[in-house]
Order: sequence, then structure tokens, then C-alpha cells
Amino acid sequence: ALVSMRQLLDHAAEFGYGVPAFNVNNLEQMRAIMEAADKTDSPVIVQASAGARKYAGAPFLRHLILAAVEEFPHIPVVMHQDHGTSPAVCQRSIQLGFSSVMMDGSLGEDGKTPTDYEYNVDVTRRTVEMAHACGVSVEGELGCLGSLETGEAGEEDGIGAAGKLTHDQMLTDPEEAADFVQKTKVDALAIAIGTSHGAYKFTRPPTGDILAIDQIKAIHQRIPDTHLVMHGSSSVPQEWLAIINEFGGEIPETYGVPVEEIVEGIKHGVRKVNIDTDLRLASTGAIRRFLAGNTAEFDPRKYLKESVTAMRDICIARYEAFGTAGNA
Ligand code: G3H
Ligand code: 13P
Ligand code: NA
Ligand code: ZN
Repeated sequence: ALVSMRQLLDHAAEFGYGVPAFNVNNLEQMRAIMEAADKTDSPVIVQASAGARKYAGAPFLRHLILAAVEEFPHIPVVMHQDHGTSPAVCQRSIQLGFSSVMMDGSLGEDGKTPTDYEYNVDVTRRTVEMAHACGVSVEGELGCLGSLETGEAGEEDGIGAAGKLTHDQMLTDPEEAADFVQKTKVDALAIAIGTSHGAYKFTRPPTGDILAIDQIKAIHQRIPDTHLVMHGSSSVPQEWLAIINEFGGEIPETYGVPVEEIVEGIKHGVRKVNIDTDLRLASTGAIRRFLAGNTAEFDPRKYLKESVTAMRDICIARYEAFGTAGNA
């Protein structure tokens, strides 16, 4: 059944688990997520970005998610819009039937320019008023996503601040977070704690000082009733990087957020964990490997099946690690 994010995350908070929110663009990703959820008895958050809408087209994307609800009626599914850049964008998603939207007012409508606090409060508050009237949940964002190691926002063509970020911009302030939640009434808050979008988060395996776990604790202590969201949460599996590079890829050395660090965050109020890059890496690795070993094969279903299996296994691992499994 289609559920709101508030419903799902309230349950997650009560029972102390986290829910991965996987980005979806195509049938293979959707199948991978649902098969994994079915296998592990997990509730689902699927999210669509503006880029996804451009790729698949809004009606296809919408019906892809609705098809998942129809085929797996026993699994709660949140249909979430990732990184909405204006109240108007969020309104359109609500009209399309999304049960949750993100109003990312930390960046301007271009998805690149950091905004001031008053702007963020204004657009987020207006979105919440509109969404709550329709029973739709809202995620806001305070602070700018950026790697505490490199100062880069990552993700050049998608959502991400242009240019280098300062240390302060990359860490959400707990007092400001409390004021923001009080003024906007968001259901969930994405916080900046040192992660960035995409595969290039860290040049060396990250340690405690790069991922700001203490910041999560301080924010959770200040706003214990707000569900925290961690963006840029791909772990960048080294085994998939190796497979991609073994079969013709050229991805330089890079590291993501270790699953154990995310699990630590979940102990301190993180309820929604955004993951896109890991499924992209697994999909590409599986397809490269299959095509290299089956050079006369040309039926796309053969290699796309490999991609579904690879993505499904990542989803299963995250559902199990985050404690989502068994809660559908
Ligand atoms: O926010 C970033 C997500 O990974 C979505 O990426 O804009 O390329 O679809 P995208
Ligand atoms: P990754 O690029 O780390 O997968 O993050 C995805 C994300 O935050 C989508 O909003
Ligand atoms: Na989001
Ligand atoms: Zn994000």
C-alpha cells in the first residue's frame, strides 16, 4: 500500500530502525528494490529526482511505482520526490500522487546556489502547508551537503552546491535546526554531516573525524522528535569498483560512507538513508562483467537480469544492516 513518509518513519523511530531510500529511474531498479523488500519483509521508500523524471518521463515513473504497489500489496511503499527545488515542483508531485516530497531550500531553484536561511524557511514552510493539507509528508534540508574531506558537493550535473564549501556550511547547526523545524513543521530533516552525493566522497577510507557522528548526536538531542535524513549515503562498494575496472571501466580510487557509520547514525535519530550511487555501481559492474564474458549475447534481458540481481543484493544488505528487515 502507498503510505506517507511520516507514517513509515514514525514506526521506524518507535522501533529504532532506519529505512534506505533508493532512487528509481527504471524498471530494473524498481524490481530490485521490491524483490529485496519482499525477501526481507521491509517497508520501502522509493524516490524520484528531477533527473529521473527527465529520463523516464513523469507518467512512466509514476506508474512504475504504482505498479510496485499493485504487485506487492503487502509492502508499505512511500513514493517520495527527491530534491524538489521549489514549492511549485513539489506541488506538481503532489498532484501526480506522491505521498512525500522533499523541498530542498538549502539551494536555489538552480539546485546549485546556496541560499540564505530566511529563503529556506519561507519555501519550506509554504510547501509544508500545501502538502499537509493533502496528507503528504515533507522533508526539508538545512546545511549544504559536502565532503568534509574535500570540500566538494559532488554530483556535477545533479543537485549540489557549485564551488568549494566552507566547514560551517557543511555542518548543520543544532540550534538553527531546532528553529527551522519549529518554523516550518517539516516531518523529516536532511542534515549536512560531511557526506556528498556521487561516487567521489572521500579519497581515503573515512574515519570518525570525516563523518560528523557527534553532529548527528547533538542535532538529535536538540530535536528528538524530528526524523533525520542522511543524503549521500552510498558506501561505494570496493568489490564493485574492482569488477567495473576489471572489465574495461576506469574509475579512480574512491571511498563512500561505511555501512557501520550509517548504523551508528541510525542509533542517533537517522531514519531515512538516501542511496543511489551504490545501485548504479552494482548495475554497471554486473553488466560489464556479463557482456565481457558473453560476447555473442545481444538480448538486453540477459544482462539487465544480472543488473537486477546485483542491485537486489545491495538492497537486501542495506535492509538487513539498517534493521528495516522484518518491519513491513
Ligand atoms: O540527489 C542525487 C541523486 O543521486 C539523484 O541523482 O539527479 O542524477 O538523478 P540524479
Ligand atoms: P549517493 O550519491 O551517495 O547514493 O546519495 C544519493 C542521495 O542522497 C539522493 O538524494
Ligand atoms: Na530526498
Ligand atoms: Zn540527496
